[in-house]
Amino acid sequence: MSAKSVLFVCLGNICRSPLAEGVFAHHAALAGADVEADSAGTSGWHIGEPPHRSSQAIARSHGIDISRQRGRQVCPEDFSSFDLILGMDAANVRALDELAAGTAGRAQTGLFMEYAGLGRIDVPDPWGGAEAGYSEVFDMIDTASPRILARLLER
Ligand code: 4NP
Repeated sequence: MSAKSVLFVCLGNICRSPLAEGVFAHHAALAGADVEADSAGTSGWHIGEPPHRSSQAIARSHGIDISRQRGRQVCPEDFSSFDLILGMDAANVRALDELAAGTAGRAQTGLFMEYAGLGRIDVPDPWGGAEAGYSEVFDMIDTASPRILARLLER
């Protein structure tokens, strides 16, 4: 059986979704789970860029290296390639559902925290804000990731 796959999506693909990719992959590796994780942005503003230095720093402080990731934009093919596509906030999910409407893809879409069973809440955009914002985002993602992993593996 092929690996289950999940794509994490935010606006820029430099702050929240690269952290989600790295933290989720870390939990999956600890669990010995055969899953694939990737991330993308609804915008094309940061294509080819590494994650924001504050996202890299908070990940590194928890032993997770996300420095080799590069920004990309979500594309119609993603709806055929992934089992699950999770937006970090409600605006991301709306953008994903608009894009999905024009594809024949099979991917399920959802809101990151809601899919984790943690409520219909956004992971707040930390871009341009204080370091504390990145720490808050890390903690939300770190809490949600094992729950998302468990649900993905149940599918
Ligand atoms: P992200 O944060 O969506 O978590 O990657 C942002 C990064 C860049 C911008 C907005 C949000 N921007 O406006 O360039």
